[in-house]
Amino acid sequence: MKVGIVGAGMVGSSAGYALAVMGTVSSVVLVDRNAELAIAQAEDIAHAVPFMSSCVVEAGEYDQLAGASVVILAAGVSQKPGETRLALLERNAAVFRDVVGNVLRVAPDAILLIASNPVDIMTQITVRLSGLPAARVIGSGTILDTARFRSLLGRHLGISPQSVHAYVLGEHGDSEVLAWSNARAGSLSLAGFAAQVGSAITADVRARIDDGVRNAAYKIIKGKGATYYGIGAGLARIVKAIAQDQQEVLTVSMVNREIEGVADVALSIPRVIGAKGIVTDLFPDLDAEESAALHRSAALLKETVEAVSL
Ligand code: LAC
Repeated sequence: MKVGIVGAGMVGSSAGYALAVMGTVSSVVLVDRNAELAIAQAEDIAHAVPFMSSCVVEAGEYDQLAGASVVILAAGVSQKPGETRLALLERNAAVFRDVVGNVLRVAPDAILLIASNPVDIMTQITVRLSGLPAARVIGSGTILDTARFRSLLGRHLGISPQSVHAYVLGEHGDSEVLAWSNARAGSLSLAGFAAQVGSAITADVRARIDDGVRNAAYKIIKGKGATYYGIGAGLARIVKAIAQDQQEVLTVSMVNREIEGVADVALSIPRVIGAKGIVTDLFPDLDAEESAALHRSAALLKETVEAVSL
């Protein structure tokens, strides 16, 4: 499988690096308006390949995206310290008005995987700009937030994050919803497992984990200027589910006809991902508080996207 990446900055190049070393796809093409950057990133990643895979990594112009099964859109600006993801909207919407048409001109059958923030709004903007069916425009959404949630829960409970089944829903951003009520450790409820291992999930633990998920990016950006390894691996994970037709359940963003009473809005819930993109949605069972929070998140995104003129 050939994958294109538009935007060879830290997020796009980290996704390219993860794809190359995972060896999941046969080739990666990096495109950037700064051709020198794309070439340098591609060469640097290509020098890692001999240690781990046989993926061909190149830089190119849009024409080199021809034949790509997936094109990752990571172009645009990223958060500065203290800046919200929603604050990036106007600048990145302007970038996408140029990028989306250029991609579909050469790769009309590709699945578009959106990474640029605010990713839920950018996903919905891409559907509007491209006219593609919603299932072929996937936003990375809360895949990273879900990984953060599972990682922190696993650390508290003393088990691998792979054995924690917990999801973050809604906006990839400040209004996201940690679905505590249906989270599980192995086959047990969180409370049941926590009692067995003597690691109670108290109100303070919940608050600490919620903060650790919801505000992770702000803390990392304060320390190193940007986040990119986590999202890069998350993007590669979504591509793997497509490349291997895994029918994997991942929390990714897509325009849904209706979520919690809000029509036509892109946000994350657990969805089955396969070769053709999003296969089906798993609308989660939520408690009243979580359902209200997801409605608020959906309403915020809807209000925000409706204010965007394309
Ligand atoms: C983060 C960026 C990808 O959450 O929004 O790290």
